[in-house]
This record gives sequence, C-alpha cells and structure tokens, in this order.
Amino acid sequence: MKSITGLDVPYRPEWHYSAERNWLNDPNGLVYSNGTYHLFYQHNPHGNDWGNMSWGHATSENLLQWEEGPVAILCDEQESIFSGSAVVDHHNTSGFGIGGVPPLVAIYTSAYSPESPLAGRQAQSLAYSTDDGDTWTKYAGNPVLDRASSDFRDPKVFWHEGDAGCYWVMVAVEALNREVVLYRSEDLKSWEYLSTFGPANATEGLWECPDLFELPLDGDASDTRWVMVVSLSPGGIAGGSGSQYFIGTFDGVTFRSETTVTEGMQPDNSRMTDYRWLDWGRDYYAAVSFSNVPDGRRLMIGWMSNWQYAGSTPSDGWRSAMSLAREVRLISRGGRPVLVQEAMDPLGQQGGQSTAPFTLDRQPLAEGVAWLPADASGDVLRIDAEFEPGAAATVGLVLRAGSEAGGAPGGASGHEDPAGLRTVLAYECISGELSLDRTQSGNVGFHETFPSVERVAVPLEDGRLRLRIFLDRCSVEVFAQDGLATITDLIFPDQPGNAVGLLAEGGGTLVSLAVVR
Ligand code: FRU
Repeated sequence: MKSITGLDVPYRPEWHYSAERNWLNDPNGLVYSNGTYHLFYQHNPHGNDWGNMSWGHATSENLLQWEEGPVAILCDEQESIFSGSAVVDHHNTSGFGIGGVPPLVAIYTSAYSPESPLAGRQAQSLAYSTDDGDTWTKYAGNPVLDRASSDFRDPKVFWHEGDAGCYWVMVAVEALNREVVLYRSEDLKSWEYLSTFGPANATEGLWECPDLFELPLDGDASDTRWVMVVSLSPGGIAGGSGSQYFIGTFDGVTFRSETTVTEGMQPDNSRMTDYRWLDWGRDYYAAVSFSNVPDGRRLMIGWMSNWQYAGSTPSDGWRSAMSLAREVRLISRGGRPVLVQEAMDPLGQQGGQSTAPFTLDRQPLAEGVAWLPADASGDVLRIDAEFEPGAAATVGLVLRAGSEAGGAPGGASGHEDPAGLRTVLAYECISGELSLDRTQSGNVGFHETFPSVERVAVPLEDGRLRLRIFLDRCSVEVFAQDGLATITDLIFPDQPGNAVGLLAEGGGTLVSLAVVR
C-alpha cells in the first residue's frame, strides 16, 4: 500500500495512481515537460463523490511512481473545471511565456454554474503556467471557444505541421450529438472551425474525451495512420463506460475514418464487436495521450472506473485510480492496422521487483485448478503466462482466490477446485474468447451492474496464448497476445484472497509461467 502514514486503507492501489484523499476521475492535461510527466485529473478536493470539479496534479519521472502536488486549477463560484489537455507552447504562440521559457498551457472545459452569466453552457478556456506546472493562472479572456452549447467539452489540443500549415488543432465533443468537432488556432486564443467527425460506430451514450494522434504503421515513419479515440458512456463494449477508436487519415482539416462500420445516431448493438475498443473491460475510460513525449512515443492513461458505479465503489477517504500508463503502437494484423498496448511495468527496469520470480517451465496442465505455492500468491503481482491449449476446452488462471484454495507449498499440487472468492481469467478454445469473470471476486453487491463477465475474441498465434496480467489491490489489467486485446476490471475481494491457480479443462500445455512481485 502507499506508504503514507494513515493512508494504508483497504484497496489502496500500490502500482496505480490514486489521489491521497477524495474523488478522482478522468486523466487531464497529460504532458511531458523537462523530464517530468504531468498527470492532472478530474478531482473533488472537498469530498469523495463527484463534485467541485477541479484539476488535481501529480508528477512522475518514470510514469510509475507519482508524487501528488497541490490542486492545480480550482473550481470557483462561476465554473467547474472539466476535462481537457495541456501543451508545451514551444514557440510562445500564446504570449504567456516569460523570459524565453515556453509556457505550459492547459485547455479545459469551463462548465458554468448558475451563478455565471454563461450559466448552463460548456465552453473552452485556458490556464497557463510559467513555472513548469507548479502554479496556474486562468486566462483573463476566457472562454476562448464558446458554441453556446450545454455539452461542448473535453478539448484535446496538439500542434500540427502539415501541408495546410502549422497550427494548433483542437478536438472536442458535442457530447449529446456524438460528434467530435475540430478547430484550429494560431495562438490558442482564437479558434476557427475545421470539421466534424461522427456519429459513427458506438453511439448509444454520450461521446466524451476525444483524442487524435498520428502513429507509424509497423514502425515505418513514412507510412502513418491517424487514430481518433472517443470515449462513450454508456454504450461501451462491456457495458457502461468504454473507449472506442477509429483509424484513418487527417489532412489538417478533416479526419476520415477507415474503420467506420456503422454511421449515424442509431446504435447498432449487433455490431459492437466489429468496432475497435481500447479495452474490453468495464474499467478503462476517458483514456487520452500525453503530449510532447520524446521520440514520438504515444503514451496513454485511462480512468479505472465506470460511470455506472463509480460513485458506489467501496472506498475509505479516497475513490478511484488511474490505469497503468500504456504505450500504444499500430501494427498490421491480417492486412489491417490495429492498436497494440504495452503497460509501463512497475517491476521493469525502472520499477524493481522485490523477490525472485516464481517460474514454471513447459508442462502439461492438470485438470481443474492447480494452485500455485504461497510464494506465487499475492494481491500485487505481475503474471506472465503462455499457454498452448491444444485440444483443451479451457485454459486460464484463477486470481485473488480465497484462502480455502490452499496452495501446497513447493509445487502446483492441489487439484481441488473449491467454490468461493476468485476472479477467473479463462480462454474458451472453441469460441476463441478470453473472459474475465468477476462475479465471485468479493464485494460485488454495491451496485447491480458490477458483477460481470467481460469477453474478447483473441485468436491464438502459432497455437499459443500469451497473457500479461497486472494485479493490484482492487484491479486486474490483462494484456493478451502482447497487448492486442486488453481487459481492465476493478475487483474488491472482501476476504483474504491471494491464491493463484492454473486452470484447465480437457488438456492443454503450459509453455511458461512467471509470477513476479
Ligand atoms: C468524462 C466526463 C467528461 C467531463 C468530466 C467531468 O468522464 O464526463 O466529459 O469533462 O467527466 O468530470
């Protein structure tokens, strides 16, 4: 748990950022500047529920350990500070810089309160920092972009250099219309309309928190695609909040999707699995990318919760955490570009593991559940497993299982499969589906929509399934086939439950296993 005195409370994540106190939702203003990653976020400085929306602030040098700073941009009587982005204004186009030092500029949504002359509207505003993010000043000329709309929000701004010139581009949503609207600016202060994207693909809920960025395909800088990320709530693939993406082209004016399956406002739930999703779990929302990251790397963070139950999750003075940071890349699969995601590893080079990994080499899988020994159990673990299902009906892992699961020291010898506390990650070989079942994961009763089973189709590669799993005190993040599909879910075990088991029905081979903590 976070080693801050008095904060060792149940479920407090060790690897995932949570605010020391109070409520958190979307990541905001993700920006890299002078060796530091800045994570701003939707935050209620005064309580454990959504409200008083302001930008909290944490910083990190490695995207793994975060240090919380003072609230960066506070709400006031007139406005709440909704989601948005931040840029390093290298050329001081805004004029906010002093002494040749580029300012950081935050572009956020002013959600105007009844006390404001703009009551009921949402418009885009600026705040700037000339001390590398420590303190922020709201621009006196706010708002800088007002469409007299009640649901115009979540601006993501980036510097664009293309055939049409060099300028700032903003993508933001008209949430109720399921539209992403694009604008351009020379100075971040005056904005000119460019185009509209959407509605397309998943359109059941509100569109929120868009992002647009360019990535090389298969690492080839001369062959790029643009990725448009659109979060949606409700109407995500697993129910409630979810993040979809589109792949296409952007000419500096218009984004053209090459992955649109259905167009228009009529949600077509029968096509949901044909759409592209950043994550197939219930708890990866409002994911956006960092700006200004060196070497063209694209790093994203999502909020690990779901609006269906975000306000009801068990908590003790704090609520909600961020996902691990993920690097996203575009690769070709079956002739189509797809995103793959790799989590920044808390036990990797910059993190550091505390014990020698528990490993198993190639061996046949036992029928049922084979519990791993105690030194391969835990509530904060990274698990790397590779399976060759062969003729098996099911292979997988049982995670965070109750103490009755046992776990004979010295080997995977217990074959009993007691019912009880557990979270089950199973690969059904006939359907080719990976599922994460949290119906028996512990406290699931705080909201009727919480008990759930998430599913994603995952083709075997050379007959194999590779899984990387990050377990933290109240979450499971699964990366299948090197990040081709991910499932992120919260869990709240309510009894001691740290056992890990290997699961198999009808055969199958374990190629390798490493459990690290
Ligand atoms: C997404 C969202 C955004 C909004 C913010 C308010 O989770 O609804 O659209 O700006 O949260 O906290």
